Amino acid sequence: MNEFVVSGPLALRGHLRVPGDKGISHRALFLAAAAEGRSVVRNLATGADVASTRALVEALGTRVTDSEPKSEVRVQGGGWNGLREPSGVLDCGNSGTTARLGLGYLAGRPFHAVLAGDASLSRRPMRRVVEPLRTLGAHIDGRGGGDHLPLSIRGGELSGARFELPVASAQVKTALLFAGLQASGTTEVVSPARSRDHTERMLRAVGVPVTESGQTVRVGAASIPAFEVDVPGDPSSAAFFLVAALIAPSSELEIEGVSLNPTRIAFVDVLRRMGADVEVVPGGESCGEPWGTIVARTSVLGGTLIEGPEIPLVIDELPVLAVAAAFAEGETEIRDAEELAVKETNRIGAVTQELSQMGVEAEARRDGLLIRGGHPVAGRFKSHGDHRVAMAAVVAALGCQGESRIQGWRAVGVSYPEFADHLALVTRS
Ligand code: S3P
Repeated sequence: MNEFVVSGPLALRGHLRVPGDKGISHRALFLAAAAEGRSVVRNLATGADVASTRALVEALGTRVTDSEPKSEVRVQGGGWNGLREPSGVLDCGNSGTTARLGLGYLAGRPFHAVLAGDASLSRRPMRRVVEPLRTLGAHIDGRGGGDHLPLSIRGGELSGARFELPVASAQVKTALLFAGLQASGTTEVVSPARSRDHTERMLRAVGVPVTESGQTVRVGAASIPAFEVDVPGDPSSAAFFLVAALIAPSSELEIEGVSLNPTRIAFVDVLRRMGADVEVVPGGESCGEPWGTIVARTSVLGGTLIEGPEIPLVIDELPVLAVAAAFAEGETEIRDAEELAVKETNRIGAVTQELSQMGVEAEARRDGLLIRGGHPVAGRFKSHGDHRVAMAAVVAALGCQGESRIQGWRAVGVSYPEFADHLALVTRS
């Protein structure tokens, strides 16, 4: 079914575990495939994006086997030199992380590969990774001078360099670190603001030297020892349920075993500023990543300003934070978020359109949105082929009186195929 029907309002109660973090899962698969020996990744993310990365490393000759429980995989790495030239096109599907990290990964391999993706991914900018990878020594060509998939890459001998990134992008930073692990000398990446740091944490946890000072990260050529990792729950997936619990009546919801990486849970600070009753309870640490429980209870929300260095830390949560803003008293302004326009869809346009469809005053800006909170009404909403827009629309529908229909629901499979089943678990009366 490509439509999801919600009859709101619905209270959310109880506890839930969301699937493994998507960003950590991609990195674990890439690094395990290049590691020396067999690695084990537990609680691997279940969506189509991570399946694209798995298929990519398998196409490079890596054996990945499922074991019980189902979300545990064993990855037989043969070192960087064990990776082989693929015989077919590497299909990255809808996954920007597969494509960008994949380019950095392949930049140092002495063979040819072609990366392609779906219509959405083929529109997304790749020059941001292609140009610095060319500087390191990789040969990359493709549409728009190499800005768009399909891209052809011939990797080879790389020499480390220093990069000052124009945007705070963890994908670009990681692509360069993956290339830097295969380059002679030192590769140094300077970000203009803090971005998610899963790569740095994972490398350090498995014993690969990484140095960090402020927003500068440095790596040199290194082999990767085999490792085991328990991937914590994805906070970006948890955010949908947490916001739903805040805006739906009589709700109290606990998300357990979720990543508490500070570069990923800044949305909790934003929600607290809006008056949300959200509690964070630390649990432990796995492979350098802190995890724990987040609890949310029905709250009266007010508007806020989200801007500047906070933006890269909440970039994937902005669609659902916009929904929280739609249910809040007063104005919420999102600034400095031009990156939102080049995600799976133009999320500035898509979110503005869907909020307007709910009767909420929303204005699209070049670098964000202005939202005047009000009383959203149920209706027909669209996913715009974007998993996070689809889930944000469901969250809004949960807070509205009456029946809503979310069209293009299948997009949810990109990051959270179990979303509907999990929603049923916590909305049982
Ligand atoms: C990601 C980084 C972010 C985020 C994306 C996943 C990652 O993209 O939006 O969903 O895993 O590194 P950018 O780093 O390009 O902003």
